[in-house]
Amino acid sequence: MLDLTRNRRSTRKFTDRNVPGELVALLQEAALRSPTSKNNRPWEFIFVDDSELLNRLSECKPHGASFLKHAPLAVVIAADASKSDVWVEDCAIAAITLQYAAQSFDLGSCWVQVRKRQHESGEPAEDAVKKILGLPQSLRVASIIGIGYRAEHRSPVPAEKLETHKIHFNRYQ
Ligand SMILES: Cc1cc2nc3c(=O)[nH]c(=O)nc-3n(C[C@H](O)[C@H](O)[C@H](O)COP(=O)(O)O)c2cc1C
Repeated sequence: MLDLTRNRRSTRKFTDRNVPGELVALLQEAALRSPTSKNNRPWEFIFVDDSELLNRLSECKPHGASFLKHAPLAVVIAADASKSDVWVEDCAIAAITLQYAAQSFDLGSCWVQVRKRQHESGEPAEDAVKKILGLPQSLRVASIIGIGYRAEHRSPVPAEKLETHKIHFNRYQ
């Protein structure tokens, strides 16, 4: 696990190679095994490999989503907010679980924030994603994780650069 944390860097450039079906199934299993508050499991995961849909998702907000256009796979993480008061945390945990699972299969990934972001028209990016994928209005959209084989290499952050002053023992000092 420590090696996964050392080597994971956001990947926004992918090769054309598709993510094999066996790995997609394992990613789905990893997502569904994510812990949730009170075991409420409020999330829904939409796995998208259709290039037209990926293209449209890449335009859900003006900045930070464009790389999805060339990603072979994206996982949209949504939730029924009425099922949990901490659905945001539940979705975030599922997102990072997916990212580390992808890393464990030597796949790169990057998070696209959707909640609290806006489409270029000014409407919420969540609504744009809902329209593209036909999600019910009752669902909230948290994020999208783009996944694929890396076409760029990003080195781990060197240990000396970690902000060790942000670690505290017993009392804040
Ligand atoms: C909550 C959250 C939202 C993020 N949103 C975006 C995004 O919308 N677009 C993007 O390209 N990267 C996004 N990222 C990736 C961050 O930019 C990235 O994790 C950060 O710069 C650190 O780089 P690293 O992941 O390579 O360690 C997001 C990451 C997190 C945790």
